[in-house]
Amino acid sequence: IEWALSEGPLTGRRVLVTSGPTHEPIDPVRYIANRSSGAQGSAIARALVRMGADVVFVTGPADAPRPDGAHVVEVETASEMLQAVQGVLPVDVAIFAAAVADWRAATRSDSKIKKLAGSIPSMEFAENTDILASVSQMKKDRPRLVIGFAAETDDVIANATAKRERKGCDWIVANDVSPETGIMGGSENAVVLISQESAESWPRMGKDEVAQRLAERIADVLG
Ligand code: CTP
Ligand code: CA
Repeated sequence: IEWALSEGPLTGRRVLVTSGPTHEPIDPVRYIANRSSGAQGSAIARALVRMGADVVFVTGPADAPRPDGAHVVEVETASEMLQAVQGVLPVDVAIFAAAVADWRAATRSDSKIKKLAGSIPSMEFAENTDILASVSQMKKDRPRLVIGFAAETDDVIANATAKRERKGCDWIVANDVSPETGIMGGSENAVVLISQESAESWPRMGKDEVAQRLAERIADVLG
C-alpha cells in the first residue's frame, strides 16, 4: 500500500498522467495497438501520489497495477483518451506516458470480418489526434509543465529533440527501445531528459527510480 503524505512537495498540485497503450478496434475481435506495459506511467503516478499530488491517471488497457491513491480513468481508444484528458483539464502538470496508436481503422466493422478463400482484406487508416501536441499548444489554461515521452529506436536524442520542438512540450523523456536494449517490457529504463536548455542522460535504473527522479524534478520546477 502506498500512502500519500498529508503534506508533500506537491501537495495541492493537480497532475495528469496518461499511460499504457490504446487499442483501436478493427472489428469486434481485432485491434491495432502499441507495445506498452504501462509500467513507467504507473510508477510515475505512484511517485507523484507519494509526494502529495492530486493525481488523475488516464490509462489504456495495460497490465500494470493501478496506482493507489490516484483517481483512475480507464479508456480503450486514442479518441477516448483525448476526451478523458479534456475532461481532466485544467491541471498544473500533464505527463503523457501513454503509447497512443497513431492511426485507427478508418472504418470499424460491427461484425467480424471473415476470412474468405482467395481474398485478403486491405485496410484504410485515419490519423488520431496528437493529445500531447494539442495540450502543449493550448492558448488558455495550458498546464505549467507539459511532459512528453519519446520511445525511439534510432538517433534517440536528435529525434526526441525535434519531437519536443514540433509538439511544443516543455520536456521530453526519451528512451531507446531497440530490441537489444531489453527495455521494452522490462523493469528498468535508461532515459534522456530533454528540455529547451539541455539533454541529460540518466544512467540505467529501475522504472520506479526514474519515476521518483522525475517527480523530484517536477517539484523543483513548481517550487
Ligand atoms: N502522443 C499523444 N497522442 C498521440 C500520439 C502521441 O499524446 N496521438 C504522445 C505520447 O504519449 C508521447 C509523445 O506523444 O508522450 C510522443 O509519442 P511518439 O509516438 O513518440 O511521437 P509521434 O509524434 O507519434 O512520432 P512517431 O512517428 O515517432 O511515432
Ligand atoms: Ca507515435
